[in-house]
Amino acid sequence: MSDARVILVAGATGALGPDVVARLVAAGHRVVITGRNEEKLAKLAAEYGEEAVFPVVTDMADPLLAGRAVGDVVERFGHVDGLVNLIGDFAVGPVMLTDLAAYRRLFETNVLAAITATKAVLPQLGEKSHLVYISSVLASEPFPGFAGYAASKAALQAWVRGLSHEVKHRGVHANIVVMTMADTPEARRQRPHADFEQATKPDSVAKVVDFLLSPAADGLYGATIPVLGKFEFSTALAAPPPGAPPIGRL
Ligand SMILES: NC(=O)c1ccc[n+]([C@@H]2O[C@H](COP(=O)([O-])OP(=O)(O)OC[C@H]3O[C@@H](n4cnc5c(N)ncnc54)[C@H](OP(=O)(O)O)[C@@H]3O)[C@@H](O)[C@H]2O)c1
Repeated sequence: MSDARVILVAGATGALGPDVVARLVAAGHRVVITGRNEEKLAKLAAEYGEEAVFPVVTDMADPLLAGRAVGDVVERFGHVDGLVNLIGDFAVGPVMLTDLAAYRRLFETNVLAAITATKAVLPQLGEKSHLVYISSVLASEPFPGFAGYAASKAALQAWVRGLSHEVKHRGVHANIVVMTMADTPEARRQRPHADFEQATKPDSVAKVVDFLLSPAADGLYGATIPVLGKFEFSTALAAPPPGAPPIGRL
């Protein structure tokens, strides 16, 4: 059995999974990837050997299955040293037209699934272990139509920061990466008119996740790290006063 750190990446089958897994493997971690979609999980795992990336088909949002999956990982590798929670859901729509079921789905996936996955790994974590979560810039500044999604990510952030205070005394680091829309081929296909100069590259997130799992981040407990690339808010109020030089891209 090697002494590589074992990092569980929950929800690895989505848009960020491949880049995050690639960075963690390159950093020398043994990466356990989870997801409900067996085919997608197997495809991602097939890019690596089982020594580097170990797939576990499960639903980390289900407490029983999550506990069982972590138990199996500990039995196989002897320890779990971190969780990167990539499970997430996204929905957009005006409040007037959004039913409660859509809100429930967002909160179940973006908040309760993160809590469930965390509770499954937490008893196994000791000194120098890490929890990483991904939030959105919209949590602090929601756009119209994104209220439910933004509220779910704001709830996630508050929960992680509260958790961080509870677990920091035993050396567990819980931190949050805040991003904007990921620049992926699928996102570009869905939004052909969006300016992807302002999107976040998945690999930029992956690099910061890797950093947050490293000894270089030992001083970070409950930190919120914006990885926003060239994203910026724009408003008509940002116009310079009369006579001032134009402000823009210099
Ligand atoms: N992509 C973006 O633009 C963006 C922007 C801001 C924040 N984020 C956040 O970053 C994280 C990763 O993003 P992503 O784009 O890779 O996420 P994603 O593709 O939307 O979802 C990641 C995985 O979560 C799992 N999942 C979805 N709903 C679930 C549920 N109800 N129960 C259990 N698992 C579920 C799915 O895996 P299985 O179906 O295989 O189980 C899915 O592949 C998420 O938390 C997301 O909210 C993403």
